[in-house]
Amino acid sequence: MEKILVGEDVFVPYLTEKTIQKRVAELALQLHHDYKDTTPVFIGILNGSFVFMSDLVKNYPGDCEIDFMKLSSYGEEKISSGQVRLLKELNCKIEDRHLIIVEDIVDTGLSIQFMENFMKLQKPASVKVVTLLLKPDSLKYNVKIDYIGFEIPSKFVIGYGLDYAQKYRNLKSIYCLSN
Ligand code: IMP
Repeated sequence: MEKILVGEDVFVPYLTEKTIQKRVAELALQLHHDYKDTTPVFIGILNGSFVFMSDLVKNYPGDCEIDFMKLSSYGEEKISSGQVRLLKELNCKIEDRHLIIVEDIVDTGLSIQFMENFMKLQKPASVKVVTLLLKPDSLKYNVKIDYIGFEIPSKFVIGYGLDYAQKYRNLKSIYCLSN
């Protein structure tokens, strides 16, 4: 894994493909252990979660359904604007269903708080959250994250679905801003 230069920013290797794949497989089995008597609906938050969502459901050994929602993103910024807008609604009915919200990364917790509140209005049977990455020191909102892949420092990361100005989502590993 080589470092990546983006203008004056240097991104260094942080989590390898192998490390990520091993942890995603563990999370899928842990979820199946907890949901095996139901058919949960995995709800991915676009765009960032699409890679994690794909690997997570491929490793999930039981019946499940999937859907996606899209929230407004950070755009070209590396910090949250503090505002969220809904850009794509769900297509499926979630009343009485067991929902698993799938996030790539939880930073301030604003997106997850928004999603949970939005979904609870439609009376699902349960709502839980799985995130690949959590920045515990950045949390500003009172959200419960039920399944966590990795806790990481409050530094900007790219790759495995995560972007910087919409690029680098296609990297198989995760890189961290070094400065
Ligand atoms: P939150 O609403 O502040 O928790 O931020 C969640 C969203 O911000 C994620 O779904 C990402 O789209 C984006 N985000 C937060 N931190 C990073 C990062 O380090 N790299 C890329 N995107 C990030």
